[in-house]
Amino acid sequence: MTTSHRIAPSILSADFARLGEEVERVVAAGADVIHFDVMDNHYVPNLTIGPLVCEAIRPRVDVPVDVHLMVKPVDALVPMFAKAGADIISFHPEASEHVDRTLALIKDNGCKAGLVLNPATPLSWLDHVWAKLDLILVMSVNPGFGGQAFIPEALNKLSAIRKRIDAHKRAGGHDIWLEVDGGVKVDNIRKIAEAGADTFVAGSAIFSAREPDGTYGKVIGALRRELEAATMARA
Ligand code: DX5
Ligand code: ZN
Repeated sequence: MTTSHRIAPSILSADFARLGEEVERVVAAGADVIHFDVMDNHYVPNLTIGPLVCEAIRPRVDVPVDVHLMVKPVDALVPMFAKAGADIISFHPEASEHVDRTLALIKDNGCKAGLVLNPATPLSWLDHVWAKLDLILVMSVNPGFGGQAFIPEALNKLSAIRKRIDAHKRAGGHDIWLEVDGGVKVDNIRKIAEAGADTFVAGSAIFSAREPDGTYGKVIGALRRELEAATMARA
């Protein structure tokens, strides 16, 4: 059963010229996690931000920084992001030569570890590394860009993983976050929560809704109300 929902603004859509203020503002408005998208112009076509930027924003906020690595190879960046203050590091299994080893490397560096499943990536990647997972990130767009449309098949994937996590927890297993990333908006977040996600990345939906006074309370409040409605419907 999903007990709590976390809102994770993706700073990919923030105003990079004011990044420190932007992260402070979304956290002041109620964000639970900062989602940090790292793209390398190799695994994905886009090129974004690295450990130096993570280190610069880390002292500005007191919520977990969730580093989503869209890079290939993966391993060399793991200690660099851990040192830069990442709390969670997730990666795409197709981008790592040795998935189990990369998960262990993330944990040895003191971070929580996650696997990211692209729209066409099967759930079988989870099978033999389940015990090492703190987070499963379901991509509801193909990785590389903000502002794409939600791919509805992600709902089936979320429901299947939710069932598995809940059964695991009922059997006394560890907690695993189920995060969704791509095309999450005020008008679909409720349905996505009902499918079983507990952590919701939203980039363009949040950062394009900045109020004239620079705050984000209105859009984050609207997302939160939809999540509460999903919880009520479940009760
Ligand atoms: C896409 C990134 C996402 C992106 C989401 O590859 O992983 O985190 O910022 O952006 P929206 O919410 O605009 O789809
Ligand atoms: Zn992401």
